[in-house]
Amino acid sequence: MQTFGRQPAFVARAPGRVNLIGEHTDYNDGFVLPMAIDRDVTIIGASRDDRVVRLRSVNFGDETSFALDRIEKAHDGAWSNYARGVADVLQRAGFALCGFDGVIYGEVPIGSGLSSSAAIEMATLMAFAAAGAGGSAPLALDGAQAARLAQRAENEFVGVNCGIMDQFIASLGKAGHALFIDCRSLAYELTPMPKGVTVLVVDTSAPRSLAASAYNERRAQCEAAARLLGAPALRDVSAETFERRRGELPDLIARRAAHVIYENRRVLDAVAALRASDVATFGRLMNQSHASLRDAYEVSSKELDAVVEIAQRVPGVYGARMTGAGFGGCAIALVDDAQVGALTQAVLHEYPRRTGRAPKVYACVASNGASWRTL
Ligand code: GLA
Repeated sequence: MQTFGRQPAFVARAPGRVNLIGEHTDYNDGFVLPMAIDRDVTIIGASRDDRVVRLRSVNFGDETSFALDRIEKAHDGAWSNYARGVADVLQRAGFALCGFDGVIYGEVPIGSGLSSSAAIEMATLMAFAAAGAGGSAPLALDGAQAARLAQRAENEFVGVNCGIMDQFIASLGKAGHALFIDCRSLAYELTPMPKGVTVLVVDTSAPRSLAASAYNERRAQCEAAARLLGAPALRDVSAETFERRRGELPDLIARRAAHVIYENRRVLDAVAALRASDVATFGRLMNQSHASLRDAYEVSSKELDAVVEIAQRVPGVYGARMTGAGFGGCAIALVDDAQVGALTQAVLHEYPRRTGRAPKVYACVASNGASWRTL
């Protein structure tokens, strides 16, 4: 806040996430099981008495400002579009906002598939909540409503057609828990993470090429499959119905649909395994999820496959899979606490030999969703 010559009055934050299982199911009205991680996007700030927002980014070393009465999009790809989008959507939803000066700092790796964008959106939303409505009380928003608004900012303002998972977990995650979400009803349930195991994240350091266009293409293929099967969404197609009618679909569309339909089942089985502290079953489901994303949904990459193969061979690893949209980014492994060192060594040693790239490895702890407090 020194750059603005002001004392900070609030701190707002939101975490990144990993998805344990349930990939590319959220936009099919299906089930997901993410957890928030112990890496945040943080904004420290102070409200202003006019309707201007000034934000300085520590990561990018730049500053942006916009007037709440005329929010324009910055250039494509600019980080500030997430903040601008949130302001725009909140106002269009009828919330009165107050301007603020803020410094934003992210420790969620950028563009690695750990949802740094949803974390910026939710942290900005929390900053507006803290700044209040111009001298009056803070904004009152419940966690699910906040997530939906942040998703709308990404869909309508930024122009990325993502599902609800990332914003929802950034909003409603809880320390020590995974969050089981029904992406149709938005009903959710916190499920304790088992003791004695670690979620290890491996960033492949590979660029996520074609991610946006391939993502939209997969969505369109799922919608086509649902249409051809006469269902509102793939969520509504049981495995039995699908197997009976699979021949009616073009082969590519059938493979995409198969991934989604069986992945939904795997999430339900994984939640049951988690409730029973059955880590072995949970890990097997993770492995199956990865195979399906690689072979049927075709959103993995040779780097993600390499991490998963290396991890799956290490004793004490229950399961491993890519996480997030895919096409590069991060993989996760569920590993016995005692074997975290061995797994890290295996990845650091073998991954560069197989891919020529240097991986980054983080052990993650399930953490709390977005929050703010006064200073
Ligand atoms: C991205 C999107 C999510 C979800 C995942 C794939 O993270 O933002 O909504 O679709 O990909 O599971």
